[in-house]
Amino acid sequence: MLSCDRSRNLFEDRVDAPSAAESLAPGAMLLRGFALSAAPLLLQVLEPVVAAAPYRHMVTPGGFRMSVAMSNCGTAGWVTDRSGYHYDACDPLSAKPWPAMPACFAGLATAAAAEAGFAAFAPDACLINCYEPGARMSLHQDKNERDFDAPIVSVSLGLPAVFLFGGMNRSDRAARLPLAHCDVVVWGGPARLRFHGVMPLKDGDHVTLGRQRVNLTFRKAL
Ligand code: SIN
Ligand code: FE2
Repeated sequence: MLSCDRSRNLFEDRVDAPSAAESLAPGAMLLRGFALSAAPLLLQVLEPVVAAAPYRHMVTPGGFRMSVAMSNCGTAGWVTDRSGYHYDACDPLSAKPWPAMPACFAGLATAAAAEAGFAAFAPDACLINCYEPGARMSLHQDKNERDFDAPIVSVSLGLPAVFLFGGMNRSDRAARLPLAHCDVVVWGGPARLRFHGVMPLKDGDHVTLGRQRVNLTFRKAL
């Protein structure tokens, strides 16, 4: 069986490999295929996480059911309900702490952040987004974290999607970036509060994930 130590070596190999990094803006990088060697292990350890904290469609403060189904792992999990958006140590469905963040999740996020120029990223929260065909995420900023010193690291798995990477205002034109299985986007520093979102997922059949896209978004929330 693969261990997380083995996967750490794989991340290091990847960092040493010729870089496919694309700069999106000051503080923002797209690392194409960065998670390729780690993906089998990531998907393996994701299973018990979502068995313990199943995907669910949360409701926005305005009363809309989100089309993306979500879960979390880590010491804090992002939740939304009628009372607002916040981080919580416990899953409101079970009233138990969110599943621990697997070491290989954190290792990949730290390695991707370092590749993008953010040393010593130590995520305490991983939002797990599950998109089925038609699911989308409208333009938003990630701003429920306690401070904005740490970057956001976003790992795409499964079906391809079109990521919207906007500016500091909702009305700024957003770049449309096709993201494939194992692409990683990192934004921090001057890009930390950029608006971003995801276009409605096109139907397809991914070789390992079938008709879904899973996105892992790592944050330092607390
Ligand atoms: C998010 O902003 O939380 C998700 C972004 C994505 O699914 O790529
Ligand atoms: Fe976000």
